[in-house]
Amino acid sequence: MNQQLRAAGIAGVGYYVPERILTNRDLEQMVDTSEEWIVSRTGIRERHIADPKQTTSDLCVNAARAALRHARTSVEEVQLIIVATVTPDFPFPATSCLVQERLGARAAAFDLEAGCSGFTYALVMACQCVSAGAFDTVLVIGADILSRIVNWKDRRTCVLFGDGAGAVVVKPVAQGKGLLGFDLGSDGSGADLLKIQAGGSHTPATFETIEEEQHFLCMNGNEVFRFAVKIMGESAERALRQAGLTPQEVDCFIPHQANTRIIEAAAKRLNVPWTKVFVNVDRYGNTSAASIPIALAEAQQQGLVQDGSTVVCVGFGAGLTWGSCVLRW
Ligand code: UT7
Repeated sequence: MNQQLRAAGIAGVGYYVPERILTNRDLEQMVDTSEEWIVSRTGIRERHIADPKQTTSDLCVNAARAALRHARTSVEEVQLIIVATVTPDFPFPATSCLVQERLGARAAAFDLEAGCSGFTYALVMACQCVSAGAFDTVLVIGADILSRIVNWKDRRTCVLFGDGAGAVVVKPVAQGKGLLGFDLGSDGSGADLLKIQAGGSHTPATFETIEEEQHFLCMNGNEVFRFAVKIMGESAERALRQAGLTPQEVDCFIPHQANTRIIEAAAKRLNVPWTKVFVNVDRYGNTSAASIPIALAEAQQQGLVQDGSTVVCVGFGAGLTWGSCVLRW
């Protein structure tokens, strides 16, 4: 193993969202809500919903193929696959192993669970692995089908989420590029704020847990909102400090796409102008671990992230967890 640290970063990005679109008007027919409430409180207009036959690994494979194409990397080169998700195909085996088999890769594979921060965690881990010389090519995927775990009778949560996957290929890059700084953290005292109560070792699934709807995602939205606004600014600042940069030097700010109001508050706290903030929550809703890589891929496609750009990604989510990375493209 090479003991020299080398620069590591993103060589290609890709994403996939299911075809079916669910609009706010559609939701008006399902729960007591309105287009006006959803748009004004969240910024979300529509979200993509997976076909009943589609699984998280299906979404992963499509996003991974797009990222490999963009990175001009063959599947044979992939040595490690990390899938960040809270909606794996099965409790085990890991979804990453299903992806490895479907792609035809000869690679190590594991899943990483850090809620909506999962992609930032996985990206940092992948960059460290490549920097250390342990692997040369790592496929990092953030993917979730939250439509399978939301309670479609609960208007407080079902309007917020969507399905999708985003992927990046991490490789050695020129010195001065790639991951320049990061900040990862957790606070388990907030574990109850966003969770699925039953189905794990704490409360195995029973007829009663199903009857009591404990197998669905439940969230204290107001508390998560407060946490998100505070932590996004703080975490991004810490990552920027580690990179020796100021918020003014950021070219593109890619926040977790949960709610436009959270994104606005975080941008204000960081003093990043709105023109540098990437937002697509209106079209996808909150896609959990997929939200940042989908946004990264779209920002890149739209020319907002170019060679030499300084990009900051900031995520937060269940755990509670948070994660920021500063990247030079
Ligand atoms: O990836 C991390 C995951 N989570 C998040 O990012 C969520 C963070 N939190 C949020 O984004 C916001 O807290 C929400 C969008 C979830 C809620 O917005 P809010 O402005 O904090 O609304 P609220 O929860 O204070 O609810 C205000 C009112 C309530 O009615 P009353 O009690 O004032 O009569 C709710 O019952 O809005 C009602 N309400 C709705 N009304 C229409 C809640 N959901 C809906 C709905 N449609 N879908």
